[in-house]
Amino acid sequence: MADMASSHDLFERAKRVIPGGVNSPVRAFHAVGGTPVFIASGRGSRLVTSDGRELIDFCGSWGPLILGHAHPEVVSAVAAAAANGTSFGAATQGEVELAELLCRQIPYADRVRLVNSGTESVMTALRLARAHTGRDLILKFDGCYHGHADQLLVAAGSGLLTQGVATSQGIPQAVLTSTLVLPYNDLAAVGQAVAVHADKLAAIIVEPVAGNMGLVAPAPGFLAGLRKLADQAGAVLVFDEVITGFRLGPTTYGKLCGVTPDLTCLGKIIGGGLPIGAVAGPAGIMDRLAPVGDVYQAGTLSGNPVAVAAGLATLHAVIRDNPYPRLAERGTRIRQAVMAAAAAAGRTVYCAQLGGMFTIFFTPAAVGNKQDATRSNTQEHARFFHSMLDSGIYLPPSQFEVAFVSAAHSDEDVELFLAAFGKAMQDSTIPTLPDKGGQPIAEDI
Ligand SMILES: Cc1ncc(COP(=O)(O)O)c(C=O)c1O
Repeated sequence: MADMASSHDLFERAKRVIPGGVNSPVRAFHAVGGTPVFIASGRGSRLVTSDGRELIDFCGSWGPLILGHAHPEVVSAVAAAAANGTSFGAATQGEVELAELLCRQIPYADRVRLVNSGTESVMTALRLARAHTGRDLILKFDGCYHGHADQLLVAAGSGLLTQGVATSQGIPQAVLTSTLVLPYNDLAAVGQAVAVHADKLAAIIVEPVAGNMGLVAPAPGFLAGLRKLADQAGAVLVFDEVITGFRLGPTTYGKLCGVTPDLTCLGKIIGGGLPIGAVAGPAGIMDRLAPVGDVYQAGTLSGNPVAVAAGLATLHAVIRDNPYPRLAERGTRIRQAVMAAAAAAGRTVYCAQLGGMFTIFFTPAAVGNKQDATRSNTQEHARFFHSMLDSGIYLPPSQFEVAFVSAAHSDEDVELFLAAFGKAMQDSTIPTLPDKGGQPIAEDI
């Protein structure tokens, strides 16, 4: 690694030419402090930093890498596709195959439109919902992140049914009035909102398992209740499965939990680590999209052949190999061992886990919504993060994100994670601080 600049030097150079030195804010380590690591390469479960350190990666590029880094089948599919031409701006066989595969694996999808990111998929789904209903109002949940479009960078206001507040400057006031924000898992609040706003409501959008306030699973009946209330209001139910699509099974979480949304947003895993997004749903709504319908949506690189090839290789592998039971086993092992080790060390930790997704919160109570998540002690988390990093474990550099077990992690990787966790819990420089209710940087990918 002799010719490789250090993370520190690269970050200093980056800050001179890239705002904050990064191309997506959470990478800057603001939530945990310190200098971000720059990555030189990844293979399987391991990353190598620009400083030549090997780390076991539990961030997985924020979700796409269910097969780990540089999986041979993905790499050869990408190489073959690239050798045939990287972009045509015209239709290709691969797009048809990916759309067919998604429709097969998601029984309630008749049509798929490929886009370039999760953000674009949500923008498209909401435009469709508004066209379909002839209404403007969108209901979202506090702590759910749906990308960086204006209409969704909105957090809860001071009370239920009050206007939300923008989580970024540059959001037009007019946009705020068309997004309603309610607490996750609070069906009664949704019922109240529907009672007041039914005739204005275009869509209810939700992460069916929330991953952007740390992991928060839906309470029993929450998603089915949303389905009922959306029907009652005549609104479109949108499941944002950008994280959960193909993460917990070879399909969507909607299919796994038996609640059928109208539209599904996908991204991350379906592109195997290359930029992609998709909206999937019934023909009755999807065929509103141009060129058959009157809802405009387009993209120079949409359905890009290299991204499609990486996505197809990834999806074929997870369908063939079914890594999901193993991911869930390892996730469960991590949760149980983390809770036991924390208790033995006298620390207040709550580990949320579903399948191979998990978040370690520094709070004693279960986390069911953003308010609960913000009770986590973010200073304790920051010290924990750095202790893990010092032990060779790379986690998402924020309390309010999800860690992922991939198919490339071995039992040994999990044991190394747990040994590092045990060490962090014994680390006297990680104080158990009084609960200060740190603010999440949830809208921050
Ligand atoms: C649930 C969810 N929706 C949408 C997005 C936006 O996707 P992208 O970053 O590809 O625009 C993200 C990103 O993390 C996400 O987690």
